[in-house]
Amino acid sequence: MKSVQINEYGGSEIIKVNQSSSEPTVSTGKVLVTIKAAGVNPADWKIREGYFQQMAPLQFPSTLGMDFSGVIKQVGVGVSSSDFKQGDEVYGQAGVINGGSGAFAEMALAKIENIAHKPKRISHNEAAALPLVGVAAWWALKDDIGLSEGQKILIHGGAGGIGSIAIQIAKNLGAYVATTVSTNDKQFVQDLGADIVIDYMNQTFEDLLHDYDAVFDTVGGDTYRRSFKVPRKGGIIVSMLEQPDSELMNQYGIRAVFRFAQANRERLTRLAQWIDENNNIRINVERTFSLEQAGDALDYQKDVHPRGKVVLVI
Ligand SMILES: NC(=O)c1ccc[n+]([C@@H]2O[C@H](COP(=O)([O-])OP(=O)(O)OC[C@H]3O[C@@H](n4cnc5c(N)ncnc54)[C@H](OP(=O)(O)O)[C@@H]3O)[C@@H](O)[C@H]2O)c1
Repeated sequence: MKSVQINEYGGSEIIKVNQSSSEPTVSTGKVLVTIKAAGVNPADWKIREGYFQQMAPLQFPSTLGMDFSGVIKQVGVGVSSSDFKQGDEVYGQAGVINGGSGAFAEMALAKIENIAHKPKRISHNEAAALPLVGVAAWWALKDDIGLSEGQKILIHGGAGGIGSIAIQIAKNLGAYVATTVSTNDKQFVQDLGADIVIDYMNQTFEDLLHDYDAVFDTVGGDTYRRSFKVPRKGGIIVSMLEQPDSELMNQYGIRAVFRFAQANRERLTRLAQWIDENNNIRINVERTFSLEQAGDALDYQKDVHPRGKVVLVI
């Protein structure tokens, strides 16, 4: 079978499409999935470049890719048929760092803790775009912030993978949503429901927004630090990138949280139910690539920044 592999850490030039890698052998507590589509996340090129090698060193050759949607080909020992069986359409994560065999492949092993039944309403391409960003946005908005009707939230990076879902979750909860995007992405986030759109290239968000209940940061760095001026006293900032800055927290009287997100079965199941119950939720797959074009797909994610997501169609 075909798989997208690396033999060392580096840029897109080190990616190899292995045309004859062996089919993974199904093992206890795992399923073998025929991959229909694999979603691309910033973490995929960060893993390729060795950002996480201290925390989770790879064994080479290593197959890239985490998020997927596909069909179960075989179940391992200990997988109950009331949970998953052959032929089930599932989505989730099969990354090597999630105990899987890598999603950028025609077939992948995934731990049953990291998958759920795919939302019925959406295609495999859309479902593959969802696991990490959907779980991250849901976790931050519903669980960390506890966002509720009438509250005001600023979502940074509203046109990105996490941001584009976060805007829709926030609107669905009845919140008032401001978001930061680049000039070309303004219309896109307006169409997703954002109430105030700030062009971060030409406007200074902290001069325009005050007394917000929450900020959701998917950008980090200077954007994160400037964000402390936006919430009311007692408000909250959740960041996907930055650890809480206690000096700024004390100075502004704001709670700050770093959200580490990993897709698990319970969160993926809740997300799938929500997607099926709300047929206005849009998962924007801006571009698709083939498995052979995985290097281009990772470069596109890293350098061009899609509106929403990039997906490999397998
Ligand atoms: N902690 C965790 O567990 C976890 C999980 C998932 C992701 N992450 C991280 O979270 C970040 C976001 O992930 P993602 O999948 O949403 O990435 P993404 O799809 O690349 O989205 C990021 C968005 O931010 C925009 N942007 C860049 N600079 C900005 C600025 N100064 N102000 C406002 N928007 C800006 C980008 O567009 P333009 O540059 O074109 O404007 C892009 O639309 C990544 O760094 C990722 O690694 C962390």
